[in-house]
Amino acid sequence: MISRKKFIAGNWKMNKTSADGVALVRDIVTAVGKQSEVEVVVCPPFTALESAGHALEGSNVKLGAQNMHFEASGAFTGEISAPMLRAIFATHVILGHSERRTIFGETDELVNRKVLAALKNQLRPIFCVGETLAEREAGATLKVVQTQVERGLEGVNKDGAASVVVAYEPVWAIGTGKVATTEQAQEVHAFIRGLLTNLFTEPVAQKMRILYGGSMKPANAPELLAQKDIDGGLIGGASLEARSFVELVTAAAAVK
Ligand code: PGA
Repeated sequence: MISRKKFIAGNWKMNKTSADGVALVRDIVTAVGKQSEVEVVVCPPFTALESAGHALEGSNVKLGAQNMHFEASGAFTGEISAPMLRAIFATHVILGHSERRTIFGETDELVNRKVLAALKNQLRPIFCVGETLAEREAGATLKVVQTQVERGLEGVNKDGAASVVVAYEPVWAIGTGKVATTEQAQEVHAFIRGLLTNLFTEPVAQKMRILYGGSMKPANAPELLAQKDIDGGLIGGASLEARSFVELVTAAAAVK
């Protein structure tokens, strides 16, 4: 079995000024900036990206954005592009987060255009999928996730797929304190790995990281991260303080 490097990403959402972000990054860098067992990414809001990027220079912590437009430039008021992110040394971008899908109306087709644009610009997408509570209760979880994965990754080739990190985030678990059980999470992760195998072949799918997201905290992380197909976490609330975020990185490093 291929061993995949664990991956912990902090999604700060609409939190932290530039100065607060720098302070947080400094604490994270001091604690885990030199380790290389776990891939660590912080995703500040746009206004804190560049300063956070400077604060993590020389460390192993990487920089990600939370969204971007699929065009490189042009008349798109309020948007920012992949080349702009590359110019400030971002390496990752969260795409298709459920908040973007539900609050801002992003469709699978739009998310797909963004995924393709990110890959074209050598940005690694952290591509999010997940069902709502109503969909889970209707027994539609796997169908919903399948549609999101297949449509969101349409046109991605094998080389591109190797750069994609998938995040499974059940919408009902995000920011609610309701974490999926390890069985619920592992079931969907294994299902996603199967979909990736169909799309990109077994060797590629075995290399791709699939993160869990939704109320992941130091207390529940070890059990989730010990599951065969759970390769890390996309962390919201617990990424806003260095202590809990660092504990999550440590928990990921401890999984063998
Ligand atoms: P949460 O958010 O950890 O606060 O539930 C996760 C996410 O939305 O990525």
